[in-house]
Amino acid sequence: MQISIKQILFFIGFIMSKNKKNGNFMGDAKNVFLRDGILHIINESYSDNYIKENLKVLKAFRKGPYKINNIYIPSQWNSSIKWEYFLPIWENYIKNKLLQKNNINILDIGANNGYYSYLLYYELKKYNKNIQFYLIDPVKDFYNQFIFLKQFFPEEDQKNWHYEEIGWQEIKKYKSFDLILCMGILYHHTDPYYLLKTIHNLLVTSGILVLETITIDLNDYPLCLIPEKKYAGSSGIWFIPNKQAVFNFLKRSNYREIIFHNTRFLIEEMVQNDYLPGLKECLSEDKKTTIEGYPIPYRSFFTAIR
Ligand SMILES: C[S@@+](CC[C@H](N)C(=O)[O-])C[C@H]1O[C@@H](n2cnc3c(N)ncnc32)[C@H](O)[C@@H]1O
Repeated sequence: MQISIKQILFFIGFIMSKNKKNGNFMGDAKNVFLRDGILHIINESYSDNYIKENLKVLKAFRKGPYKINNIYIPSQWNSSIKWEYFLPIWENYIKNKLLQKNNINILDIGANNGYYSYLLYYELKKYNKNIQFYLIDPVKDFYNQFIFLKQFFPEEDQKNWHYEEIGWQEIKKYKSFDLILCMGILYHHTDPYYLLKTIHNLLVTSGILVLETITIDLNDYPLCLIPEKKYAGSSGIWFIPNKQAVFNFLKRSNYREIIFHNTRFLIEEMVQNDYLPGLKECLSEDKKTTIEGYPIPYRSFFTAIR
């Protein structure tokens, strides 16, 4: 007989529910907050033992770190750094455009365990809008982590989050979204133009794309680097554009008001731990190139409007 992860989680949840404390969770933003780079979720209806037992059946977290009550969950990336670079774009540009609407639909492509959707949801919640978040990611392990994390948030918020285990190629909600997050996705796909065109079709008129991608810092022409096998020790990377190439991809996909916002050196976001390569395995000794001899990676934020 085959037992699925969902069944195991349900069974553990059932057993451990005996360890739960009594009391309803009337959560608000003070129960969900980012401090010292850790996303804290406080929900005293759940015991530490319940959290620890449930974590045992999940794979290592890529995005985080989290702390649920007293339990720290480490992650491969220090995801708060990307958030710090996103926040000024949100405050100075996106927020004003989005808050003109009362019903706001947001799509997070490659949402992983939901990290950035949670943070953005609570930024928006302050303004009393009807917010619906759609999260997509085809990888089961990340979906399982989302289901695990979701239970600790207030129920009134959970009902606004809709996660599907699908890739962007499968989503058919044309002209549905006011804001689409496409972060850490572009360079993983073999056809960046098709990805950007698909997103364009999913946005409402005047909808906003947030595009965050690895870029190289070469300035003469609009260029993409195509690694032979790996880039900075990582496989599954197809195109790494420079800034001008991102502009041209966006222009040719019919976006307007294309803005470059900021850039940062990528490798510092990697948390050094046992299951990750260190800086040494990604970059040359003098840190001027990747170990493969390519230009070093940056991460850049852009926005564009349909
Ligand atoms: C580098 S991570 C980026 C995660 C997150 N968006 C961020 O900015 O940190 C890429 C994510 O895309 C997901 N992914 C892979 N193929 C995908 C597809 N076809 N459509 C949507 N997401 C995909 C992966 O499972 C992974 O969670």
